Amino acid sequence: MSAPNPASPLLRMRDIRKEFPGVRALDGVALDVAHGSIHALMGENGAGKSTLMKVLSGVHPAGSFTGLVEVDGEPRAFSDVAASERAGIAIIHQELALVPQLSLSENVLLGHEETRYGVIDWGATHARARELLLRVGLDENPATAVSALSIGAQQMVEIAKALAKDVRLLILDEPTSALNEAESDRLLDLLLDLREQGWRASSSRTSSVR
Ligand SMILES: Nc1ncnc2c1ncn2[C@@H]1O[C@H](COP(=O)(O)OP(=O)(O)O)[C@@H](O)[C@H]1O
Ligand SMILES: [Mg+2]
Repeated sequence: MSAPNPASPLLRMRDIRKEFPGVRALDGVALDVAHGSIHALMGENGAGKSTLMKVLSGVHPAGSFTGLVEVDGEPRAFSDVAASERAGIAIIHQELALVPQLSLSENVLLGHEETRYGVIDWGATHARARELLLRVGLDENPATAVSALSIGAQQMVEIAKALAKDVRLLILDEPTSALNEAESDRLLDLLLDLREQGWRASSSRTSSVR
């Protein structure tokens, strides 16, 4: 793991332009994100907030917009979401992407389960999931189905899932829109906590996680 260069911001976006047929969604947008900082992107409906975050996370791939995206001072061109995830960027969309019937472990570690001799090691997978769930303040049995949790708790599961992927820049699109006030407070406290921890999933990943 190379140390981040403190001289350059974690993220630098410059002169971002994105058009849909008949709509100029983004026109010359700039955004800097320093290491260890939290930003709120605010604007009326249709202002282009989601579009900017989709540009950043590879939902809108390089080539479908113009402008500069730099991570740690290096220009990046993400071809898809998997490519931005490899650079440590994770996006949680307004519509949560959990599988309700599956367990917390399966949702948090989907595709990253702990394996032994090529077989999923459920003991290790649940233990790893439990560690991630505790990070987001969820003291739940990892074998519980996601559908048993409140929407607020499900939002936390989404964050645990992002943390499982070496996330360095976490994007939440309208994360409180489906939450009540207590749940929103909890979410905002969690974001402050994560900043405090300066947490990188990679620091506690074991080598057997793929
Ligand atoms: N996939 C799309 N196809 C066509 N137009 C889109 C698409 N996504 C967003 N837009 C348009 O781009 C503009 C910005 O939308 P959006 O980024 O969703 O705004 P916000 O998230 O700030 O509410 C709006 O005019 C919206 O209708
Ligand atoms: Mg939006």
